[in-house]
Parts: sequence; C-alpha cells; structure tokens
Amino acid sequence: MKKYFHIVTYGCQMNLHESEKIAGLLSELGYERCDSLDNADIVVFNTCCIRENAENHAYGNIGMLKKLKAAKRDMIIAVGGCLPQQMNKAENLHEKFPYVDIIFGTHNLHKLKEYIAAKQHGKKAVIAIEEGDGVVCEGEPADRTSYPNAWVNITYGCNNFCSYCIVPYVRGRERSREFKNVLEEVKTLLSDGYKEITLLGQNVNSYASPTDGVRFPELISEISALEGKFRLRFMTSHPKDFSEDLAKAMADSDKICHCLHLPVQSGSDKILRAMNRKYTSADYLKKVELLKKYMPDCAITTDIIVGFPGETEEDFNATLRLVEEANFASAFTFVYSRRAGTKAAEMPDQIDAEVSKRRIMQLIELVNSQTRVYSAADVGKTVEILCEGYDEKRGLYLGRTEYGRMGYFASENNLIGEFVRMKVNQANGVSLFGDPVE
Ligand code: SAH
Ligand code: SF4
Ligand code: F3S
Repeated sequence: MKKYFHIVTYGCQMNLHESEKIAGLLSELGYERCDSLDNADIVVFNTCCIRENAENHAYGNIGMLKKLKAAKRDMIIAVGGCLPQQMNKAENLHEKFPYVDIIFGTHNLHKLKEYIAAKQHGKKAVIAIEEGDGVVCEGEPADRTSYPNAWVNITYGCNNFCSYCIVPYVRGRERSREFKNVLEEVKTLLSDGYKEITLLGQNVNSYASPTDGVRFPELISEISALEGKFRLRFMTSHPKDFSEDLAKAMADSDKICHCLHLPVQSGSDKILRAMNRKYTSADYLKKVELLKKYMPDCAITTDIIVGFPGETEEDFNATLRLVEEANFASAFTFVYSRRAGTKAAEMPDQIDAEVSKRRIMQLIELVNSQTRVYSAADVGKTVEILCEGYDEKRGLYLGRTEYGRMGYFASENNLIGEFVRMKVNQANGVSLFGDPVE
C-alpha cells in the first residue's frame, strides 16, 4: 500500500526550501507526494509568523483539519516552522489543536523522521522545540519542486534584530555554511540540469565561510565561474552591508542577474533609527546610485513597511519621496504588524489601522505606477525568459526575465527549463506577454 504526504507551506523562500527538505525526509521514509489533504497519510504545515495574518492563516487551516482527522484517525498531522518556535506557542498550539500529532521548531526539522517513528510507536503527541542557535546541517536530501530554479541556503538565522522583526527570535543567530559545501551543492545542481540557482539567507551580504573566511562577493564570483549557461540570484541583501565589491562582482559576471532585492523599509531617518536598520535614507540612495553606476540596467526591488509605531504623516511622506527617487522596479508593501517579544511591540504610538490602511493604499498606487513604466518600456524589445512552467488557465508558458519580470508566451513544445527569446508585444503590471523568436 502506498503512503502519501502533503505539505502546506507559508512564508518566505527559506520555508519553501525547507519544505523541499521535509519532502526529502518523507520520501526516504517511503511516502509519496500527493496534491490533496484528503488523500494524505501525513500532512505537514510549515508555518510562518512574520505578520499576524500569516499566523492566522495557518491557524485557520490547522483548525479545518479537525474533521478530517476525526474521520481518518491514523493520519499524522505535523506543524513545524517559525510559528511554534515563538515563545510559548508550541504549548498554545497543543492546547488549541490537541489532534496535532507533532509540533516541531526551526532548529529540529532534520529530526522529523524520529518524531514520526515515536508517533507510530504510540507516543501521544510529540512537542519538540529546541532553543539556541541551531546547527548547520549538511547533506540533507531535498525533494525539489521549483525546477529549473534551485534554492541553496548559504546562511541561516539573523543577527540584525530590526525592532519590528520576529525572525532573529525564531531562526536563531546567523551562521554560514562552509564555502566548499555550497560550491559542491551548486555543482551537483548544475550537473542535474538546474538552470537557475538562488542563494538564500536573511542577509546574504554578511556571509562568511567558517573555516576559510570566503565572503559573499567571492562566493558569487566563484559560483558564476562554473561551466555552463545558468542564472545566479540571491536574497536578501541588507542595505547596510551592501558594498561596492558586491556591485562589481555582479557587474563582472554574465551569470549573476542584474537585479537586486534591497529592502528599504522606510524613507524616514527617524523611523529607520527606531527600526534599528543602521542606515539613513541618504545612505540608501547612495547604494542605489552605486548599483546604477556599475549596472545601469539593474532592476532594484524593495520591501516597505507603513504604520511603524510613531510614524507621522511627515515620516510617511519621506517614504513616498524615497520611493519616487529610487524608482523601484517593484516593491512589496506591508502594514506593520505587532509581534510579541520584539522591541517595537513595546513602543508607544502604535498606529491606528485606518491610518495604516490609507497609507498603504497611497504607497501601492505609487509603486504600481513605477512598475507599469518599467514593464511598458519592455514592449517591442526581445527579452530572454527562463521558462519555468505552464499556466493552465491562460494556456501559456511562463518564466522570468533576468530582471524578474514574468513573461508569458504560447508554444507547441514543452519549453520548461529552456532559455527562450521572447519579443514583448504587451505589458500588464508586472507581467509581459509576447512571442518566442529565433
Ligand atoms: N531578511 C529579509 C526578509 C525579512 S521578512 C530582510 O531583512 O529583508 C520580509 C519582509 O517582511 C521584511 O523586509 C519586512 O518588510 C517585512 N516585515 C518583517 N517584519 C514585519 C512586521 N512585524 N510587520 C510588517 N512587515 C514586516
Ligand atoms: Fe528581520 Fe531585519 Fe533580520 Fe531581515 S535583517 S530577518 S528584517 S531582523
Ligand atoms: Fe516567515 Fe519564518 Fe520566513 S517567520 S518570513 S517563514 S523566516
């Protein structure tokens, strides 16, 4: 009898990749992936707690499993990731959802097989949250789902303690993988046919290989010197650590995509200070200028938070001014969410939800207008798309340009995993539509 697993993932790319590792472990136990909760013998929720709505989303879906579990008593439900890693949350989860069999944190994913075995040997519920800074695991199997892209961790954790952010509390202190292990993994992925490598870390710029001291610019230069045609991307870069060396390394390589996600968070120096970001809006704009000096074509994207405690109209206007000046290719915008245990949660002047809502609408409008200008400028051009999938609804293949724009085109052949030259006929928001050309 075949046994099936189903994984539901919330949150960032880090979590997407961790779900691939969970899948790798479950495959080793003989489970096969399935698309629906109903057919699964084991269901894993890999959760996020970056904002309150991410948490609520997970709670809602875990709640809905109660019926299924009642009908299928031997189904195993596991909840892991950032949500249960928060202080006291694992116990809360257990009380609220007693039918969840396994609750595990971010530092003990690699022990999931043990927990499943314990459960199968009759243990009532496994609650396994490890404190501390975790370990760097090597050689874990990954059942990858994002071909032709492959995610590769280079750092885990974060030391920055931005005052709004829960990540340092749930992912522990920053630690880097050994350079030689990263390089070996990338070589294997390229020989397996992957065409795009995305290096992952909360702050990739502070990567430092433990024994040989290799830093980030050297790491990406070494990777981009590997044979073959492929793209190299990375995320995320903290502006305070973004250096000229990195801009040079990016410009010198024909494999590193000319696009950079550089979260600014706010344009107000007062708010940036309260956020503990360690740069001013002028510092940030200088980095943008530096990038454009080495790569005039570089697409810069960002994250922005509105409604941080104490944000006045004047502070918000400073954010709008910075967005205008930086002219982002696209941006993720968020309403500040109060996270228990962070410094900002204790700050006075928490902002009214209505005020934040108005601000984010205004910001989104500005960001979208910039995005549209960038996309419209591509009409008539021929761009290179790395085809990554097929959109059933549209009946079109899709993939990204080097700059991160999604391109759609029709084809008789399955082009997934191929670089396709596409003449852009039309632009719509962040999407481009066109025809393949020779
Ligand atoms: N390490 C990355 C990503 C962090 S999470 C970085 O430093 O950029 C991704 C984004 O979520 C952040 O850039 C920030 O804009 C947003 N974010 C983090 N905590 C938040 C909070 N409490 N409320 C609203 N947005 C938040
Ligand atoms: Fe959070 Fe700041 Fe670390 Fe990013 S750099 S994960 S925003 S604390
Ligand atoms: Fe969420 Fe954890 Fe990532 S809190 S954003 S899944 S590091």
